[in-house]
Amino acid sequence: RALGILVLGTSGPLETFSRLDLEMAAAFAGQAALSLELARIHRDRERLAVFEERDRIARDLHDVVIQRLFATGLQVQSLARVLDGQAANRLHVAAAELDQTIADIRQTIFSLTAADLDDADLGIEIRAIVAQTERALGISPVIRVDGPIDRRVPAAIRPHMLAALQEALSNIARHARATRIDVLLRVSSADILVEVRDDGCGPGGASRSSGLANLRRRALDLGGRMGFGPGENGIGTTVTWLVPLVTPPGALHVSSPTDDPAAGQRPPGGGR
Ligand SMILES: Nc1ncnc2c1ncn2[C@@H]1O[C@H](COP(=O)(O)OP(=O)(O)OP(=O)(O)O)[C@@H](O)[C@H]1O
Ligand SMILES: [Mg+2]
Repeated sequence: RALGILVLGTSGPLETFSRLDLEMAAAFAGQAALSLELARIHRDRERLAVFEERDRIARDLHDVVIQRLFATGLQVQSLARVLDGQAANRLHVAAAELDQTIADIRQTIFSLTAADLDDADLGIEIRAIVAQTERALGISPVIRVDGPIDRRVPAAIRPHMLAALQEALSNIARHARATRIDVLLRVSSADILVEVRDDGCGPGGASRSSGLANLRRRALDLGGRMGFGPGENGIGTTVTWLVPLVTPPGALHVSSPTDDPAAGQRPPGGGR
């Protein structure tokens, strides 16, 4: 993809560049692009590490710290019941303070996990979802990005697009027994496509459908469509999720991602 434009000028009487000049300029541009790309990857990695660290802290606060405070609060309260007078009053105050501390920590957890989500780079979120699949399956999906998804996917479509990717990858981890996954994310001036292909056992006799039904509903709500079926030459399964960039009038109700507890929350491979 184009990262920039290198402009060359001559200051002498020479009006053209020699072949060698142009080759050197091309080599220079290649090196410059590589440095820019490496800098971007470093930046992304750092941000991803920050997100992961925040998740870990939020989890520890929730699972360890709050549970301990809660247990201590219960002990304090039961102690207050068997005492009376001033000692009991002081214990009630202590229990109320523990409650307040728990409420404060919950607020902190909320801000830790909600922070920066709005301005988070779409690429980072995609990589985080893909990394979950890598951890669950031990195979790395081959990702192809076509078009400036970061700039062109509107904020209103982003969570739906991420949920579609997450559900398709989660399904592969849980049902497909695949050895290869190909993901195409394409944005054109007309639409956005998420296509996920695997070489697994194929759709077979789908027993029940809720994750996929949600994907279809998200696509229809946005005036688009969803496809699910055998892959090319009957190999594996292909999921396509396509929505137009401009939502047609009449398709204005967009279901919020919180309507759908299956999407975006459960890690791939996670059981029910
Ligand atoms: N990539 C795939 N390979 C093989 N089978 C699949 C694949 N994706 C989905 N399926 C089949 O289609 C069914 C429906 O998928 P869907 O995502 O709607 O439901 P689910 O994954 O079983 O449950 P949920 O998503 O509600 O947790 C699955 O149960 C599975 O049998
Ligand atoms: Mg599913």
